[in-house]
Order: sequence, then C-alpha cells, then structure tokens
Amino acid sequence: MFEALTPVSEMLARNLDTLSRQPLLVCGLLEDDLPGMLAGAGPAPRVFTTDFRYFQWLKHKNGADVEFGAQPRTETAAGLLLLMPKAKAEADYLLAACLPLLAPGAPIFIAGDNKGGVKAAPKLLAPYCKQVNKLDSARRASLYQADLASPVPAFTPADWISRYPLTEEQLQVCALPGVFSAAHLDSGSKLLLGTLTELEGRVLDFGCGAGVIGASLLKRHPGLELELIDINALALEASRLTLAENRLHAKVYASDGLAQVTGKFDHIVTNPPFHAGLKTFYHTTESLLTQAADYLLPGGSLILVANAFLPYPELIERSFGHCDTLAATGKFKIYRATR
Ligand SMILES: C[S@@+](CC[C@H](N)C(=O)[O-])C[C@H]1O[C@@H](n2cnc3c(N)ncnc32)[C@H](O)[C@@H]1O
Repeated sequence: MFEALTPVSEMLARNLDTLSRQPLLVCGLLEDDLPGMLAGAGPAPRVFTTDFRYFQWLKHKNGADVEFGAQPRTETAAGLLLLMPKAKAEADYLLAACLPLLAPGAPIFIAGDNKGGVKAAPKLLAPYCKQVNKLDSARRASLYQADLASPVPAFTPADWISRYPLTEEQLQVCALPGVFSAAHLDSGSKLLLGTLTELEGRVLDFGCGAGVIGASLLKRHPGLELELIDINALALEASRLTLAENRLHAKVYASDGLAQVTGKFDHIVTNPPFHAGLKTFYHTTESLLTQAADYLLPGGSLILVANAFLPYPELIERSFGHCDTLAATGKFKIYRATR
C-alpha cells in the first residue's frame, strides 16, 4: 500500500548525502518507505506519525523505530525532516512539537509536493531559524533546509487546542490542528445530528474527528455505551479533550476502518471520510459499508451522512438488502440500514 516511492521521496533520493549525515526524526505526510531509503543510506531515522495506518505498516515492515501519537516522545534528536502535511496549521503544530527535541545548530528539512503547501516552508521556519535555503526542486517537489537558531521551549499541547460551542447540544468542542471541522460543526454532521432520534445500547462513532457526533449522542443519551475510533492521533486526542471538557466518558481508540474494533454494536453512526489524499485514495468508507452488517447486532443499524452524489446507496443495498434515506438536502443525504 505504501510500497511505491512518492515523487517527494524520489526528489529526496537525490539528496541522501545531505539527509543521512545525522539520524533524523521524520514526521508529517509519510506515504511510502522513505524511512527504509534513509536507513539504507545512513543512520536509521526515528519516525513519528499521527497516522495509525502508516504506523502499523511501518512497524510490521522492518521493525523501524516508529511511534504513533499526538506528540513525539521526549528524546533528543539530531535533526528533523518534516514532510509537509495537508494543513499548514498541522505543520506549525508538528514543528512546535518536534523542535524542542533539537539542539541549536541542528538541521531542519522540510520537503513536499509543490501543490501541497511546501512553499510555505520559509514562513513556517522563520520563528526558529535565521536563514532558510532551498536545496532542491524536482518531480514537482521541493526541499528546504535551515539550522535551528536557539533552543525551543518545551511543547505545551494545551496551547494548540481550539474550542467552539455547540449551542443546541450545550457542548464545547475541542479540536487540534488539521482535525476535520476544527473551527465549526460540519454541515453534514449537523444534518446527521438533527436526524438522529432515540439511540440506545452499544454505539460506535466511526471516524470521530473532534468527537462531535459521539459527544452529542452521549449528552442526549447518557446511558449509551459509546466507542469512538479514528485513524488520526490528533483526532483521537481532540475527541478525548472534547469528552473530558464536557465531563463525558467513552472509549476512544485508534482503528483503521473496523480492523481494531471488536464485538457487535446496536448502532454505527458516522460522517465517513471520502477525501483522497495527495497520493492515497481511501477505500475506508466502501469497506465500512460492506463490512458494517457483520459488526451490528440483529436489529442494529448503520446511520451515516454522505454527499448526495456519492454512490453509497448501491453499496449499502448490496450488503444490507435495503437502504433508507432519512433526510436529504441539496448537498447531503442521511442513510440508514438495519440488520
Ligand atoms: C468526515 S470526518 C468526520 C469527523 C467527525 N465525525 C465529524 O463529524 O466532525 C471523517 C474522519 O474519519 C477519519 N478517518 C479517515 N480514514 C479512516 C480510517 N481508515 N479509519 C478510521 N477513521 C478514518 C478521519 O481522520 C476523520 O476524522
């Protein structure tokens, strides 16, 4: 799945002499075996990822030094390579989380697809470095380098939490950079919450993001046995923060699709992912629609919101034998299928 090198890594392959002078801490948009390529040319890198799918792939691949979470472990590093993430705010967050681990003079590299925001590298590095150099540009990707000017204060995750109220639900939502709907409730999720009525029993919030759906359901039905899953460590952390801020309790854990989920549920509720990454296309939702029935108790239901143009009803009908449309706007539809 992550086997072929991305154009960004192909460009980095021309710079291995420079990159492999020191063991690097590598983070950001990792989509291939760049760590293996670095390890083949010099000291093995340490990889910090917020993507649970990538974490599992790399861990099983070659026993690489790889960690998954919302921040890296506090162990010094000789240099940093940041693969530009999709959201600039996430790049800011990752620099603030990783740079306290570097000593002054340590090299910082930022690489990425030219269309993926890498041109912001000089601006991103300005608070930390005196001069930023562009080392290379090829395969529609660029590599920037700078030296850390002075020690960076310890990372304080609390500084990165953004909050907004959900007035109707009397909830405070907490989000972190790059998390879906970090600044306001998504209109699809709003329609879903407005459509859901009585739920009870064991409920799964699939792809929980900042935890808006799960927290709202728990607020309405305090007796629910709720589980929230996501593939992204910042989303999981945001969900934990949202639950804690509203004094709600649920199980929050990393899962790639339904792979880490066990047992059966009364309801699976979701605003599922449908965006393609720069390289990776997510088949997550198609798999969910195909597998959900196996994760539901008899009489249990899958309820989701989706863009109206997506061909989900066919998939749902194929696996459940029917698909009800509970609500529809020009943009979104709410589907329900019962086992
Ligand atoms: C459209 S967002 C919905 C977020 C939140 N439930 C809301 O309504 O605001 C979809 C979420 O699915 C997560 N996701 C993407 N791929 C996933 C996968 N393979 N397994 C689990 N979650 C995934 C994303 O990280 C994102 O948080």
